[in-house]
Amino acid sequence: MSSISCYAMVVSGLESIAAREIELLLGAKITRKTDGLVTFKIDGPDPDLFDLKTTEDVFLFAWGTDSLTYRAKDLEDIRKWTAKEGDWTRLISQHHAFKPKTKGKPTYRFITQMDGEHGYHRKDAQKEFAKGLAKFIPPNWRMVEDNASVEFWLTIEEKTAVAGIRLTDKTMRHRTYKVAHRPASLRPTVAAAMVRIAELKPQHKVIDPMCGAGTILGEYQIFAEGWRMPREAAWGGDIEQAAVLDASANTRRLGKIYLHRWDARWLPLDSCSIDRIICNPPFGKQISSEVDINKLYRGLMIQFNRILSPGGKAVLLVSDYAALKGACENVGWELEKKFRTEILGQNAVISLWHKPAPEGTLSAPEGVLPVSNDLQGTE
Ligand SMILES: C[S@@+](CC[C@H](N)C(=O)[O-])C[C@H]1O[C@@H](n2cnc3c(N)ncnc32)[C@H](O)[C@@H]1O
Repeated sequence: MSSISCYAMVVSGLESIAAREIELLLGAKITRKTDGLVTFKIDGPDPDLFDLKTTEDVFLFAWGTDSLTYRAKDLEDIRKWTAKEGDWTRLISQHHAFKPKTKGKPTYRFITQMDGEHGYHRKDAQKEFAKGLAKFIPPNWRMVEDNASVEFWLTIEEKTAVAGIRLTDKTMRHRTYKVAHRPASLRPTVAAAMVRIAELKPQHKVIDPMCGAGTILGEYQIFAEGWRMPREAAWGGDIEQAAVLDASANTRRLGKIYLHRWDARWLPLDSCSIDRIICNPPFGKQISSEVDINKLYRGLMIQFNRILSPGGKAVLLVSDYAALKGACENVGWELEKKFRTEILGQNAVISLWHKPAPEGTLSAPEGVLPVSNDLQGTE
């Protein structure tokens, strides 16, 4: 089979992380990265595609454009491009190569997503998309509302449109390990991206000191499985006992994690004993009004700086980046990378910080992590 063109939907701002994962896992050639979208080519129907962790969904590529006009004229173009540009017969056979046909009549559905102020409705765009596709759909196929074996997708985002056939389903972005959910929980794909930003090694001691439902810890465990070698157990904790229990339920089957209820501003851990902190502290709007976000972040960074080994790194996701920057600079950390993204409809920044090692220091000191007896640990 000749090369297959695909596109992945990605959380905005994390395209370069997803592109790197696609390259490494699939040996793919990245052809384009735009807001929320990564297009790539692979040599054949590689089942590893379903193991991607930083992508929300993956599709076979039919056609794409950056030149929608927002006017009704787009509708005619959508129909024409769908009828002429997309080699749908080939795409359908590629889909069957990834996902063998099930018994009985194949079922299909059309899905259109539209973002932006266009001079036409989403339903009109879908109608034209369906008209363009009509001649490619075998007559014995049955259209259904849900659970179709083949989904034809049209995604419109401002001036950009892309059309194709969906390969993945919701388990790609939701994960099956998450059995307990919490309101401010991260999307697993974002947590997976944070883990990849952290430049991890098997000997690293990793912690999420404000772990909520444990999504970052879960994604760390899944990532670290790929090393196929012994690794340090990860650490996590939260000020809320219910969160610790949820994190425990979610990560139980993924490997050894020490979980504790604690206040991250007073961590019962040795100084300089941790190599990587990966954390998503509460956003301003998630904490009570009397708690000043600047004060919270300053308190956290003083503590994170104490436990982090010289040369260690922290990946932090916040919405109030100015407050975080002030707190990190206050403890002498240096910024290495920054990714602007959007979390729960809010602008947010994932940043990678590094604690400088004093001159002449070659490696982080070895350290055990004693946990004080008054904390309830779950393993
Ligand atoms: C944005 S949520 C983290 C979400 C988590 N990454 C997840 O995917 O579920 C922030 C967490 O910080 C916890 N938290 C707030 N203040 C804390 C503190 N002083 N010490 C430890 N945890 C704290 C909250 O209980 C909440 O679970």
